Amino acid sequence: MIGEPWSTGVSRGSDGVVSVGGVDVHTLAATHGTPAYVLDEADLRSRARSYRRAFETAFAEIGAGVDVYYAGKAFLSVAVARWVHEEGLRVDTATGGELAVALRAGVPGADIGLHGNNKSDSEIARALDAGVGRIIVDSLVEIERVADAASAEHPAPVMVRVTTGVHAGGHEYISTAHEDQKFGLSIHAANGDSPAMQGLLKVLSRPELTLLGIHSHIGSQILDPSGFEVAARAVLTLRAQLAERTGVLVEEVDLGGGYGIAYLPGEVALDPDRIAKDIASSVSASAQDVGTPLPRFSIEPGRAIVGPAGLTLYTVGTVKPVRIDDGSIRTYVSVDGGMSDNIRPALYGAQYHAEIVGRRSDESTVLARVVGKHCESGDIVVHEVRLPGDVRAGDLLAVAATGAYGRSMASNYNHVPRPPVVAVADGQTRVLVRRETEDDLLALDQG
Ligand SMILES: Cc1ncc(COP(=O)(O)O)c(C=O)c1O
Repeated sequence: MIGEPWSTGVSRGSDGVVSVGGVDVHTLAATHGTPAYVLDEADLRSRARSYRRAFETAFAEIGAGVDVYYAGKAFLSVAVARWVHEEGLRVDTATGGELAVALRAGVPGADIGLHGNNKSDSEIARALDAGVGRIIVDSLVEIERVADAASAEHPAPVMVRVTTGVHAGGHEYISTAHEDQKFGLSIHAANGDSPAMQGLLKVLSRPELTLLGIHSHIGSQILDPSGFEVAARAVLTLRAQLAERTGVLVEEVDLGGGYGIAYLPGEVALDPDRIAKDIASSVSASAQDVGTPLPRFSIEPGRAIVGPAGLTLYTVGTVKPVRIDDGSIRTYVSVDGGMSDNIRPALYGAQYHAEIVGRRSDESTVLARVVGKHCESGDIVVHEVRLPGDVRAGDLLAVAATGAYGRSMASNYNHVPRPPVVAVADGQTRVLVRRETEDDLLALDQG
């Protein structure tokens, strides 16, 4: 094992060749080509289990139940939906497409949630048809639309997504509970009832809806747990206010996802046991303060389950030394993928770590920037990393912790076919999502 930020199944032999789950990178590249997303099944499953067990244990201690939903937006395929469900997680979907994958995997509707700030009528209808366990409604208008699509005989189970004003996470675009963004209903009132309270009251007024509870997701890649605790207190307070006003004490509270992982060596991921204990003790204290019994909780980790389990394997092409502003040399190392298989560095300035994985090098390192093959100077895969000075065309290079929001945000920019997702377990590989071909892309082009 190389250690963080690599998956636990990654090891480097004395010849410098890296293996994942018992398969060396040369075999992976020869069998599946590059670039390829490589997913360490045992690592993914063990993270899913750790989150479930940590939360179940910590919440049992405060006398509350908890469900763990895997946030499919991080990465969803039929196999992954199956794996996480086998590990006791439910599946959280954000679109009809993700819902289709979860259903294809055989996840029962009751174990699926549907999110989205702009669900289409057909997405709502499909969710109701599938009997999803919960639809998380995001606006007052949507509450009406879901109610209109359901019936009093078969009411739709809904949670109301609220924003608490807690701003957490690495980048503005991945912080979702502050006020000036598109998700949820604010708990803050300018005058009269807050949008969140209006939403809850509206749900209660419609016999076609069952109000399961309140949902709050405060952001992503959160490394400081205090944000979860402040948001949970705000949600429990809102729940108590609704009970005082209407006599209805909703049964569930979802605290969303956002558990941070290590992307770089030396970074420390949130520890599931620690965070579960901290959140459990803080919600227990908050519920006591507001004077209500505890609800059933749920959480929705995505990145923390699949992110560290994945890496992207590339082949190095052009290597170019470039003199930069301070007079020093930066070595630009181009790989055979780029922003089409990982948009996060360009989108959020996300940082990643890369290593040459196909051989040993005793050369001293140089300051390198790993870039892709796209027609954008912002097509950066790894902003800054030290690589062996003899890095050269043909080298295999791996980028760590790309399991989340890599393939799921991939594009066909420059008509580059998207890489396959290859699972590795016990020395065997299995293609979960095959490589796209130019024929796939041309098949969409109607001339
Ligand atoms: C509602 C909701 N739940 C869960 C997640 C998963 O977040 P993460 O992958 O950071 O755990 C997101 C991410 O955007 C989200 O919007």
